[in-house]
Amino acid sequence: MTKETHIALAPMEGVVDHLMRDMLTRLGGFDLCVTEFVRVVDQLLPARVFHRLCPELLDGGKTPAGVPVRVQLLGQDPTCLADNAARAVELGSPGIDLNFGCPAKTVNKSKGGAVLLKETQSLYEIVHAVRQAVPSAFPVTAKMRLGFEDKSLAIDNALALEAAGASLITIHARTKVEGYNPPAYWDWIARIKQQVKVPLVANGEIWSAADAALCQAQSDCHAIMLGRGALSLPNLAAVIKQHQAPMSWDEVRKLLTRYSGYEIYGDKGKYYPNRIKQWLGYLKRQYVEADALFARIRAMQSSEQIVEALQQP
Ligand SMILES: Cc1cc2nc3c(=O)[nH]c(=O)nc-3n(C[C@H](O)[C@H](O)[C@H](O)COP(=O)(O)O)c2cc1C
Repeated sequence: MTKETHIALAPMEGVVDHLMRDMLTRLGGFDLCVTEFVRVVDQLLPARVFHRLCPELLDGGKTPAGVPVRVQLLGQDPTCLADNAARAVELGSPGIDLNFGCPAKTVNKSKGGAVLLKETQSLYEIVHAVRQAVPSAFPVTAKMRLGFEDKSLAIDNALALEAAGASLITIHARTKVEGYNPPAYWDWIARIKQQVKVPLVANGEIWSAADAALCQAQSDCHAIMLGRGALSLPNLAAVIKQHQAPMSWDEVRKLLTRYSGYEIYGDKGKYYPNRIKQWLGYLKRQYVEADALFARIRAMQSSEQIVEALQQP
């Protein structure tokens, strides 16, 4: 793996918020983060909505470790998306990412996310409008799946995104129907790459340095995006890029303890207990100890109790 592998941290709604971005980017290896999606329906959103999902906007659009954070928008109305994109950039987002991959039912009913993959022309119109509205120095990028039910439009959709002015396309190498189940069809990214000139980022099912190398080979794509893999092995980006050893369970326990210091005030103290249980769900794929810890803290409601449990090996 060469040094210059570009690694992005995947947007994950309800999971990768600014605190998680801070924790993970401090561990090294990441070049870019993308926010959880900002849902755009029919109005220009107030600044506070952007600041809530991306507090980094108040800090130069970067995590404390200095990794840029790009705001992601999800919606179907080109004009409204364009207006909100311009606002996000004015507020300090170093570019805009557009979500064409979200499988959630409520999202698809209001026609955002993956359902748009059935409408190549809509993809074009959205990206075109957003590109026109955002100053050219700021990248407008898109994140797509290979399709909705099948992959028949994968290449046409990528070509439409490119023609509309997307400067980079991240491809989650599965259809909406394939959900998050393995495998990811990395070879499809290589097929798309034969037709499309803009840089592509390969995403899906990268859990280890070996997976990253295989994905790069099969997708013919150097840049990668890590989602669940980075939650399951927190220093995965540094393992891939800097050949670091995977974190030991002891180091992970320290990380989880440090996370308690990130408690959000005014959340009735539920943030840390809920989020740490959620995180352990991802960690147990890599660490058997995470399962036992989860069982121990499952019923605990307070951060203090959980931190105490974390101290016991
Ligand atoms: C809980 C969860 C939330 C997600 N939220 C978003 C999102 O807000 N925007 C987006 O483009 N993708 C979202 N995704 C998809 C991920 O960014 C990524 O494409 C997917 O998890 C595949 O990568 P992985 O196999 O490395 O996890 C989400 C995935 C999960 C599991």
